[in-house]
Amino acid sequence: MRELVVQSLCVYLNLLIVLICKFYLFFGLSGSCCNSLHSASPAILNGNEPLLPVTSPTAAPQPFLPLLAPSPLGPFTNSSVPKLSGQCLLDFGAAQSMMSDASIDCVATFAPYLANVVCCPQVEATLTVLIGQSSKFSKELALNGTSAKHCLSDFQQILVSQGANNSLQQICSIHASNLTEGSCPVKDVDEFESIVDTSNLISSCEKIDLVNECCEQVCQNAISEAAKKLALKAYDLMNIDGHHAVTDQSTRDGDCRNIVLRWLANKHNPSQAKKVLRGLSNCKINKVCPLVFPDVSPVTKGCHDGVSDQRACCNALAGYASRLQKQSFTTNLQALDCAATLGMKLQKENITKNVYELCHISLKDFSLQESGCLLPSMPSDVILDQYSGISFLCDLNDNIPAPWPSTSQLPAQSCNKTIKIPALPAAASGQRSIYSKDVKYFLLIVASVVLTIIL
Ligand SMILES: *[C@@H]1O[C@H](CO)[C@@H](O)[C@H](O)[C@H]1NC(C)=O
Ligand SMILES: *[C@@H]1O[C@H](CO)[C@@H](O)[C@H](O)[C@H]1NC(C)=O
Ligand SMILES: *[C@@H]1O[C@H](CO)[C@@H](O)[C@H](O)[C@H]1NC(C)=O
Ligand SMILES: *[C@@H]1O[C@H](CO)[C@@H](O)[C@H](O)[C@H]1NC(C)=O
Ligand SMILES: *[C@@H]1O[C@H](CO)[C@@H](O)[C@H](O)[C@H]1NC(C)=O
Ligand SMILES: *[C@@H]1O[C@H](CO)[C@@H](O)[C@H](O)[C@H]1NC(C)=O
Repeated sequence: MRELVVQSLCVYLNLLIVLICKFYLFFGLSGSCCNSLHSASPAILNGNEPLLPVTSPTAAPQPFLPLLAPSPLGPFTNSSVPKLSGQCLLDFGAAQSMMSDASIDCVATFAPYLANVVCCPQVEATLTVLIGQSSKFSKELALNGTSAKHCLSDFQQILVSQGANNSLQQICSIHASNLTEGSCPVKDVDEFESIVDTSNLISSCEKIDLVNECCEQVCQNAISEAAKKLALKAYDLMNIDGHHAVTDQSTRDGDCRNIVLRWLANKHNPSQAKKVLRGLSNCKINKVCPLVFPDVSPVTKGCHDGVSDQRACCNALAGYASRLQKQSFTTNLQALDCAATLGMKLQKENITKNVYELCHISLKDFSLQESGCLLPSMPSDVILDQYSGISFLCDLNDNIPAPWPSTSQLPAQSCNKTIKIPALPAAASGQRSIYSKDVKYFLLIVASVVLTIIL
């Protein structure tokens, strides 16, 4: 047991150091980072990072961001008091802690790299909860166009004042129209409850089983069914004005799905609602590899001829992987998917030999930076700590070799329980404990941006 602890501590420290170095570089600072880990010499910042505190060598460590102010509207600094429109009736206080989480999940520089996995899911869940909660008073599950504009702007202002990136609307492609009913013909709470089988919806989604929901789809099916029922209403209206006929079925279903989610957020308290909404978005994000694959021809050139020149092949593959690694953090399940996608692209180009094995490509190579952090399949919120700065929960079970897709088989689905991918990290990654039953699956909190130690 002691050996285990020591060993994991080493892993922890190694990762910590690697991540510190990585993120140190990330922020565009120069210098040899690992050597200066314990030195107190201040780094010169380039002035583009208003959030980084400038510390003197003798100053006590300062947090990367000051701690959240007790009030959600409380600004971090004097320079970023949110300027609210005064025309949004949403009760931002009702989702105070979700808004704080969203601000940190989307923290300035990191937002683009966490967009797909943590930041945007949390932003969307927060907006859903805000509208759902406000429907208790307004009796409506959507905002009108004017309100939507003001509320989205106020929402963004508050988040930015708490440290979030100021281009969240672009990063998460959120428009004011996303706060309205869109093409869904139902937004009134009473009408909703007269159409939908609400008791089934509640019982299916009240205690969402985070590990099994993605495969069993109990809550997701109930939501789809409810959304379809609402969307069907459009056919009745069509006979009257034809306005809704313009939108196609799937857009309408999608818009009604948002209405259903808001209704659920009205019935749950914000923290339950968050659990359900983030659980559902995890199912969605883990289904697809979020990376954009550039042209594979450099790899096919390096690895052709039955891989006669191993060095050239692995260099080409490493070069290609490093381009992928600049894009985004990924979850372990996404990384599996990315490995399969790239493998199939290469196989199409007649690279039949398992070049992942040849070049020791592992799952974590499909997440941000070579030795970066592969997130668990249910990524937790980013943590802001006064002493350690910003940290994420990483899946340390990330050294497993990237599986080379088999030509005779479809890519293994994580829901297929009869398939045993070596150490598939699916279910166990839901656990937040440091040790789970299976030692292979333990997770650690990895402090990643201990800038204050470096500075
Ligand atoms: C905010 O402004 C007050 C008064 O102008 C000043 O005393 C305080 O130091 C400022 N705080 C920050 C974080 O700039
Ligand atoms: C916000 O995200 C954008 C990418 O969309 C990035 O270019 C910008 O530097 C980020 N802003 C801050 C303050 O880090
Ligand atoms: C939009 O909603 C707001 C708040 O509910 C209300 O005050 C306003 O009159 C509405 N505007 C229109 C055009 O319906
Ligand atoms: C917002 O709506 C647009 C279409 O109007 C859609 O493309 C986009 O995906 C939506 N964003 C979110 C976060 O749902
Ligand atoms: C792959 O190999 C087959 C048979 O050797 C050949 O017909 C095909 O053109 C090759 N495809 C590519 C993309 O090189
Ligand atoms: C699960 O995997 C096994 C073994 O590869 C396969 O025979 C079976 O058809 C798969 N089941 C589903 C539902 O995909």
